[in-house]
Amino acid sequence: MDTPWLDIPLADYEGHMSLSTIGQAQMLATLFAELLAEFSPPSVAVVGCAGGNGFDQICMEATRRVAAVDINPHYLEALSNRYADRIPGLELYAGDIQSPALTFAPVDLIYAALLFEYVAPAPVLANLKAACRPQGVLASVLQLPSGTAAAVSPSPFTSLQALAPVMHLVTPADLLAHAKEAGFVPLSAKKIALPSGKKFAVQVFQLPAGENVPIRPP
Ligand SMILES: C[S@@+](CC[C@H](N)C(=O)[O-])C[C@H]1O[C@@H](n2cnc3c(N)ncnc32)[C@H](O)[C@@H]1O
Repeated sequence: MDTPWLDIPLADYEGHMSLSTIGQAQMLATLFAELLAEFSPPSVAVVGCAGGNGFDQICMEATRRVAAVDINPHYLEALSNRYADRIPGLELYAGDIQSPALTFAPVDLIYAALLFEYVAPAPVLANLKAACRPQGVLASVLQLPSGTAAAVSPSPFTSLQALAPVMHLVTPADLLAHAKEAGFVPLSAKKIALPSGKKFAVQVFQLPAGENVPIRPP
């Protein structure tokens, strides 16, 4: 898949997201920590994980299996260098989450933060359903339109501007409709506003108990 994400150095992405004027890295890591505390998932997948923002929040006593998914293999390499020692059996999946070829064993919590802006929701949600255990949780963070802030904030990390032409904001209503279509039910929703003027929607969905139940051998 041709995407500008393959050409953006991780240092640029992380530098941009961590700028005090942007503040998104910390917000996304805090949300992840809150989800881990709320659901104590035995297994988790972070889809569109970049270099592992928030992975330091994972408690390996509660969460014994961690999968990291990203289209950029260099991001996953950096993530592995940072966390493989702390997270035994860390699973890395490099590829396009829109493709049914990208599969991994289902998990109890999927975190997809600022991913849907770059992918088609329907195929991704079909894939995420297959990757979610019965009663598992999918948490998404969407960027909301802002009257004042540019979709990709200007910063010294100019490589990020390559994302502007391919970034498409998804409305929470659209994501909800696609998630329901895939079989998820909504659990909760909230909005977050940052001092930069940017706003975000956090939506949490659950896969009902009867879905994706493993078939026992006869
Ligand atoms: C805006 S970043 C979000 C990163 C991360 N969630 C965080 O907390 O900073 C989007 C991430 O999704 C990845 N990505 C974009 N398109 C993708 C795709 N089709 N399949 C898998 N990952 C993708 C990018 O490489 C990037 O790491």
